[in-house]
Amino acid sequence: MFVSTPSPITEQAVAEALATALAAIGAAADSSALKAARAAHAGEASPLAVLNGAIRDLPGDQKAAAGKLVGQARAQLNQALAEADARILVAEEEARLVAEAVDVTAVASRWNRGARHPLSLLMEQMSDLFVAMGWEIGEGPELEHEWFNFDALNFDEDHPARAMQDTFFVEPAERHLVMRTHTSPVQIRSLLSRPLPVYVAAVGRVYRTDELDATHTPVFHQIEGIAIDKGLTMAHLRGTLEHLARAMFGEGAQIRLRPNYFPFTEPSAEMDVWQPNAKGGARWVEWGGCGMVNPNVLRSAGIDPDEYQGFAFGMGIERTLQFRNEMNDMRDMVEGDVRFSQQFGMVV
Ligand code: PHE
Repeated sequence: MFVSTPSPITEQAVAEALATALAAIGAAADSSALKAARAAHAGEASPLAVLNGAIRDLPGDQKAAAGKLVGQARAQLNQALAEADARILVAEEEARLVAEAVDVTAVASRWNRGARHPLSLLMEQMSDLFVAMGWEIGEGPELEHEWFNFDALNFDEDHPARAMQDTFFVEPAERHLVMRTHTSPVQIRSLLSRPLPVYVAAVGRVYRTDELDATHTPVFHQIEGIAIDKGLTMAHLRGTLEHLARAMFGEGAQIRLRPNYFPFTEPSAEMDVWQPNAKGGARWVEWGGCGMVNPNVLRSAGIDPDEYQGFAFGMGIERTLQFRNEMNDMRDMVEGDVRFSQQFGMVV
């Protein structure tokens, strides 16, 4: 005989299963916790699924009521799951944004790239030009003997020319040391240390007792040239300087010589350059000194002036940069602020 067993699908059983499920879903704080809650309370083996499956075995007259009871519970469960999904999605998105936040106002930490000083670049460019013509590069000390700086260059002991250049004399006086006032002592050093003929260019630092202001600096740079060979004339001097001028100031550049006096050259000249591309329009600018090497200088170096002759020239690098690149204040060149150098990049 068929014995009717009491239905396992009671209101209480369904309510308990639903309450446990909703509690677990409500407690899920992230998507992995929610995934676990979903498996435990909405999965195939979950209490509500088991209750749902039991409907099949109920007597026909109980099926509708049980189906409604379980169906409503599952609908609530699914709605709770959907809400939890949305809640966790928003929370996790917010957490991610906080974690990945970038403070666009923070000071960037990057290395400031330096730049070579325009004076260095200019000296290198000028030296390269002479090397390309087959000249050698000469050097001399900045703390120089008076003999090289003055005597051998035909500056007489009491000659006013010695006072032409404001000299830093270095103590003790009896050692006769000076901070070289020009690169011309390299002329003598080159003649004494090299076989003839001599074609030497020298760049370097020189010193004069000037205050630092917009147009003076007590330490500056010069480029010197000396060429001694058989039969050199002023035409060679002109040609050499014109070549340098064109490389520095463009094809339209020219050279002009005006009579002047230096003890170590005879004749001597002040050299002007025609700067075709100057900002305010083409112009003549005083650029440096030059001349035919004085026979007395050749004699100081043991060279017979009847056999060998030559020319020499010298100009300031700061001054060249100043009028070539339209820079008004000399102090910008010596203060060492990297922003000054950076405007030139790697090309002057
Ligand atoms: N030494 C000179 C100066 O400093 C320049 C110069 C160099 C002049 C060579 C003639 C020849 O003013």
